[in-house]
Amino acid sequence: MPVYSVSHVENVRVCVVMVGLPARGKSLIAQKIVRYLSWLSIKSKCFNVGNYRRELAKDVDASHEFFSPTNAVGTQYRRQAVEAAIEAMMHWFNDEHGVVGVLDATNSTRARRDEILQLCRTNSIEPMFLESWCDDENLILHNIIDVKTTSPDYQGQSADFATSDFLKRIKHYESTYEPLDRDHDRQLTFVKLVNVNSQIMLNRIESYLESRIVYYVMNLHIRPRTIYLSRHGESEYNLTGQIGGDANLSERGWKYAKKLPELVLKSLGEDAPHTNLTVWTSTLKRTQQTASFLPYKKKLSWKALDELDAGDCDGMTYEEIEQKFPEDFKARDDNKYEYRYRGGESYRDIVIRLEPIIMELERQENILIITHQAVLRCLYAYFMNIPQEESPWMSIPLHTLIKLEPRAYSTLVSRLKADIPAVSTYKEKGTSQLGEAEGAKSVKSRDIINESPCS
Ligand code: SIN
Repeated sequence: MPVYSVSHVENVRVCVVMVGLPARGKSLIAQKIVRYLSWLSIKSKCFNVGNYRRELAKDVDASHEFFSPTNAVGTQYRRQAVEAAIEAMMHWFNDEHGVVGVLDATNSTRARRDEILQLCRTNSIEPMFLESWCDDENLILHNIIDVKTTSPDYQGQSADFATSDFLKRIKHYESTYEPLDRDHDRQLTFVKLVNVNSQIMLNRIESYLESRIVYYVMNLHIRPRTIYLSRHGESEYNLTGQIGGDANLSERGWKYAKKLPELVLKSLGEDAPHTNLTVWTSTLKRTQQTASFLPYKKKLSWKALDELDAGDCDGMTYEEIEQKFPEDFKARDDNKYEYRYRGGESYRDIVIRLEPIIMELERQENILIITHQAVLRCLYAYFMNIPQEESPWMSIPLHTLIKLEPRAYSTLVSRLKADIPAVSTYKEKGTSQLGEAEGAKSVKSRDIINESPCS
């Protein structure tokens, strides 16, 4: 069962139609909505018109003239790109049981929005327009920097060229742009974000699903920030292979706790003196002990960050679980995301209790979260868009600091190893033994771009 089956109960399907000039953060918002809903098991997908345009016009020069309303060739390609994206989205809704599709494009004219509106109505899909309107020059500049460094349109181009060309592209769109208007568009379901979320206009938000999306979007900000994730230091239970409990740190765990401030400073680099981190821990001793040497004043412990509750198996080793509850042991290996410990929790349960944490996390700036293996996997899955079948099997070793830096088109990941030995708490499928075999699915295998020891 999905976490939120309400969309199926109500049989609501929503098409979020992004609206706005280039460099207004639309793609970032679109991708975040999809990532958030997918994490909650709501089938969602983003259809980026720019990607279709790049594919259709791959041999055509895509500098700013291409986007001029007087360029017949460019106009033709752009029209085809929108049609291709919409066709793919409708196919996905109708044949693949999509629930929330996000059409990521400028959709900057009323004529275009009307066409989409009619098409959605014909297919019994609720259109929700989401405009990012912005006149704050600093915000626009910030977005341009993000786009020019990460957009496929400017790969291999100099930064100066990318900036000046992109500004000219924006001018072309400005000449025909018709923003959403509270009088003219009062019949539509829409959200208008003014300068990210300094002001938000909501109109005719009708379904539960739409209100969830609105609530999420209201919590977003685009100020640059860094999110650090770490497991607690090695605990006494880790040494004996027991799961759960509320054990103290081992001797090596305490060493990690003492080393953590240095690790964070090293990772912050020259920003270190100006960076104020907020530190979140669980309510369990091992995360609080790990945070105890950090010099930051804002520390908060959350029950929602506590380790997965192993219920009747709390305090047991995997070998003991395999002997005492062989069917459960196998059932968990067969579907680790869904399996709920007797009297305890599943990974899916953790995602539900982490949702308020994610909302609050989106509002935060620089933050360090010290938590537990299963919880960290779920948080990491949210930021890195890792599918449910993979996330419970990711290897996230002890004594390693993970750094996440969200960007417009991706999240940069790096990790810093503390060079303090610790046991492995990783369990492969089909065994009760701990330790990683060669080629174990690890965070490293898909997204780590930088890994360095800190000795
Ligand atoms: C693009 O081609 O990059 C975006 C097209 C649009 O949304 O206008």
